[in-house]
Amino acid sequence: MKNTGPIAFFDSGIGGLPYLQWVRKKLPNFSYRYLADRANFPYGEKSIEELGGLIIGSMERYIERVDPSIVVVACNTASVTALQKLRDTFSVPFVGVVPAIKPAAALSCTHTIGLLATKRTVEDPYTDNLVRLFADGFQVERFAGVDIVDFVENHLLDAEPHEIREVLAPAVAFFSEKEVDTLVLGCTHFLHVRDEIAEAFGGRVKIVDSIEGVGRHVIQMVSEYHGGGGGGEFFVSGIEGAVDTYRRFADAYALGWGGVV
Ligand code: DGL
Repeated sequence: MKNTGPIAFFDSGIGGLPYLQWVRKKLPNFSYRYLADRANFPYGEKSIEELGGLIIGSMERYIERVDPSIVVVACNTASVTALQKLRDTFSVPFVGVVPAIKPAAALSCTHTIGLLATKRTVEDPYTDNLVRLFADGFQVERFAGVDIVDFVENHLLDAEPHEIREVLAPAVAFFSEKEVDTLVLGCTHFLHVRDEIAEAFGGRVKIVDSIEGVGRHVIQMVSEYHGGGGGGEFFVSGIEGAVDTYRRFADAYALGWGGVV
């Protein structure tokens, strides 16, 4: 890594914020940037081809703006579809976030795992490959949590507990019927409702995400570098009317308002 720039996080929306928070708690003196690529939200409904172009374009503007030491692609959909393209296009190092199939396979006693992710991630060949590599012989049940992604991005801040339970209900019913004993949260948005998901299964299902694995990897990569003196800024791409929501998220995660890029 070449400079002392900030650690930058990237997602289609607010999904990557818990990842930033995890790393920041361990490395409070580094400085942080976050981009919610709202202009292209939701990623999960788009094709691989379309996403590739959109993500490269947004990343180019983001990197120019914040000059990071490293970029954490805190989005499973962006990572499974475009991580290789990003590495081929930019010289900055990238850390990706992909569904934690491997740790889930290690935890599952019944060899029946659930994957809750976006439509793109659920269908993507990258995911098939993860399953082949790390959960060969396991039953892997996949559910695209399209409505949950939308809910978390647009309604979470003012949501009542019963509204959260309602939006989770179809996924909970699906995985309960399939009798999974371990569930992978394969979309970063779902970390915002991790406790509610665990509760909806009455504690019977082990919930697995990639936050710690990714966080440790980031720390390893930046450990020899100066982090830029602390602080953080939140940027959002191309929104109309919803600035207030994103300002509230920035405040909730103690990030300054970088503005609309
Ligand atoms: N947060 C993203 C992920 O981890 C996806 C949300 C979207 O569909 O834009 O996959």
